[in-house]
Amino acid sequence: MCGIVGYTGAKKASAILIEGLKKLEYRGYDSAGVALQHDGRLVINKAAGSVADLEKSLDGNYKSIKVGIGHTRWATHGRPTDENAHPHCSCSEEIAVIHNGIIENHHSLRQWLKEDAGHNFRSETDTEVLAHLVEEYYEGDLLEAVRKATAKVEGSYALVVISSREPGRLICARQDSPLIIGLGEGENIVASDIPALLAHTRKTKVLEDGEFASITPENVDIFNSEGKLLNREIFEITWDIEAAEKGGYDHFMLKEIMEQPAAVKETMRQRINTASGKVDLSELGLNGEELTRLEKIHIVACGTAYHAGLLGKAVIEELAGIPVEVDVASEFRYRNPLLKENQLVVVISQSGETADTLAALRLSRQKGLKVLAITNVVGSSVSREADEVLYTWAGPEIAVASTKAYLTQLIALYLIAIYFGEIRGNLAPETAAKLVKNLRALPEKLKKILSEESLSKLRKYCDHLSSWDSAFFVGRNIDYPVALEGALKLKEISYIHAEAYAAGELKHGPLALIVEGIPVIALITQKAVFEKTLSNIQEVNARGGAVFAITQEGFNDVTKQVESVFSLPPVEDILAPVLAAVPTQLIAYYTALARGSSVDKPRNLAKSVTVE
Ligand code: F6R
Repeated sequence: MCGIVGYTGAKKASAILIEGLKKLEYRGYDSAGVALQHDGRLVINKAAGSVADLEKSLDGNYKSIKVGIGHTRWATHGRPTDENAHPHCSCSEEIAVIHNGIIENHHSLRQWLKEDAGHNFRSETDTEVLAHLVEEYYEGDLLEAVRKATAKVEGSYALVVISSREPGRLICARQDSPLIIGLGEGENIVASDIPALLAHTRKTKVLEDGEFASITPENVDIFNSEGKLLNREIFEITWDIEAAEKGGYDHFMLKEIMEQPAAVKETMRQRINTASGKVDLSELGLNGEELTRLEKIHIVACGTAYHAGLLGKAVIEELAGIPVEVDVASEFRYRNPLLKENQLVVVISQSGETADTLAALRLSRQKGLKVLAITNVVGSSVSREADEVLYTWAGPEIAVASTKAYLTQLIALYLIAIYFGEIRGNLAPETAAKLVKNLRALPEKLKKILSEESLSKLRKYCDHLSSWDSAFFVGRNIDYPVALEGALKLKEISYIHAEAYAAGELKHGPLALIVEGIPVIALITQKAVFEKTLSNIQEVNARGGAVFAITQEGFNDVTKQVESVFSLPPVEDILAPVLAAVPTQLIAYYTALARGSSVDKPRNLAKSVTVE
């Protein structure tokens, strides 16, 4: 949830930390701080506010300091105040700690440290216990002290610790929260996420759960929990630095929406055999026999990824003939799901670090089920712990509101449905071939939706929508998950209260809320339920609701009924959600702009939810 950077080398540490924290700011926004190691003491600078505020307060000072740690915080324990900002220090101020995660037993540790060991606490955070614990165990070796301290801790952590007594040395520890070490020449850098490293190096070593690292400018040593030195392979990052920056757009979200044709193409690339026109997911170690035996699939995810899962259910059931249950991960993990032989769990997570999704994955594996992960982040916890991984090649997604990752999750699910369907003999080869052809045509259709003409139409509509505090999204069949995702996107970044309903549900309650002019965005892309949805639109019209319909070109009856229509390029109905999602993303974006809200960093939200 929070962002972590540590540096040791020959350059000005504060500048490197600030630059890295800015790249990670999307992970935690309420406060920021650094601890710099200088002349046998630690210089701490931290406050509630943004990284830019922190930068101002450093005011170009500390030029000669070459070692330090920095943090951006998203509050979990304790309010966003100056005192609660990281780094946290030991009583002697010789040890400073930055932490991402939650120390679950911090109450009892705090009590023990205060009452029995005489430590003085300055903040309300769970993290501060770590600084005092390390101090308590320090006998001249920081690594050993961190190892002993973490042995007392229950919970999740990515930690970087420095001591004024050990110049040039950073100590790291990881449990259930990511830490990646970037390797340089005469310098090394550690961070909780890749964008903070890319300006310095592409060579990395990933720390695994239960491991520790001792980092100096010349060496990176990784140890297991018993203190055994490990040999870790170098992992080369292929992401372009530009790919992690805005690339000329006003917001990451818009840039990421615009990247969707490429992201979709990339996710299909190498998975569709151009010669045979067949989907080939042999990269998954699932054999034909296993797939034929499958009796049920459980899809588990959170938020937007859960909405992708709802569409996944429809397409897998339709194309592969396998019954699918979809669960929100935070429910799945606590509801004792019936997991049996011949079932597969599919977890979907852009970040691959979502705590509930990871817990659902672990639960499923404990119960003996195979887990297939759909994720966007190579080396993420989900990718490492799942039995099989299907990566979405969307590239780094920085805006909190997920767009391109979502669209590529849909593509991954279509690929799975077609591949499983063909192997199981549920999908006729000609039907599969037609679907594949139409899938491959999606990037060009997406480009049309992203034309200036479409954008200006949507901008105009959003001027109307932005003056309302409430809106509805409706749709039937596979338009319904798109409606759910459209509503989530709108509420998330424009702060308009948006509700999605299966269109047939309107008359079972929500119709009472339809008043003159209220915005209702109707998804109507499916021929099979076209007339039914049209009747629902008429019900809204009759009560004065202002319907904006998202439909397919050629569905002319909609145009007759509705004052504003956005027509998608014609598409095979089952694939329409990939196109229909895009105008809903743009509606959220332009409405947020019109209302002046913070598009890329909506209030109270963070990109990667690594705590429960
Ligand atoms: C909303 C959004 C979130 C995430 C959810 C799961 O735009 O992005 O709802 O989808 O927090 O995150 P991942 O996919 O990283 O597991």
